[in-house]
Amino acid sequence: MTTGLFLSFEGIDGSGKSTQARRLAARLENDGLSPVLTREPGGSDGAEEIRALVLQGATDRWSPETELLLFTAARRDHLERTIRPALAEGRVVICDRFADSSRMYQGRQGLRDTVDTLHDLMIGTEPDLTVLVDMDPASALKRAKARATAEERFEDFGLALQEQMRRGFLDLATEFPDRIHVIDGDRSEDAVADDIYTVVARALEQRRNG
Ligand code: ADP
Ligand code: TYD
Repeated sequence: MTTGLFLSFEGIDGSGKSTQARRLAARLENDGLSPVLTREPGGSDGAEEIRALVLQGATDRWSPETELLLFTAARRDHLERTIRPALAEGRVVICDRFADSSRMYQGRQGLRDTVDTLHDLMIGTEPDLTVLVDMDPASALKRAKARATAEERFEDFGLALQEQMRRGFLDLATEFPDRIHVIDGDRSEDAVADDIYTVVARALEQRRNG
């Protein structure tokens, strides 16, 4: 039986996750693989509908608990319909954000234990490898704001949240040192992409060697 490789990208808004996830997918395709590039919140029809509920509208639209339930519902659907089937086919799944984002964003108001309990109950899956794209929050926010989309509910929490999230993600990398690899995102796209490819190629090699 083949099992695929589950990769996630994490980091603050505007750090370059989506750009790098796309570039990695293109590079792996060039290597003859057939990776699945997906994202959270979203990645399946139902989860994409939930995406609009959590990313649009006023910052106080949901209580922290309701927001956590919505993100978890979206993740469960994504897992059932997109991630698990692709891994069962032996494919590489590249996911732009996953459960670490809930640990950080929904866990930010003293709810980290609740996030972990709900994760164990409803998700129970971690990526094989997580790329944490780390960078200065002010520059990342500037990049994110330049995009101007309707999905700005979290960006509207502002720089203080970005700073808190950056520190939190780095702490998380210390908590899960075998899974989370920190990459300096404050460099050219090419330099960041090369570092990420090196880490992923090593993980693919390890998987081939059992
Ligand atoms: P994220 O998914 O982390 O929010 P994106 O990949 O969407 O970040 O990048 C945010 C913006 O910054 C985009 O406009 C993108 O083109 C730009 N960008 C991404 N990587 C870099 C980089 N290394 N240097 C400069 N700009 C970048
Ligand atoms: P995303 O579309 O990845 O935005 P960006 O490309 O700007 O990083 O995610 C949108 C927001 O959703 C982001 O600010 C973080 C938030 N989020 C959570 O709060 N919890 C989660 O579990 C996920 C997946 C995202």
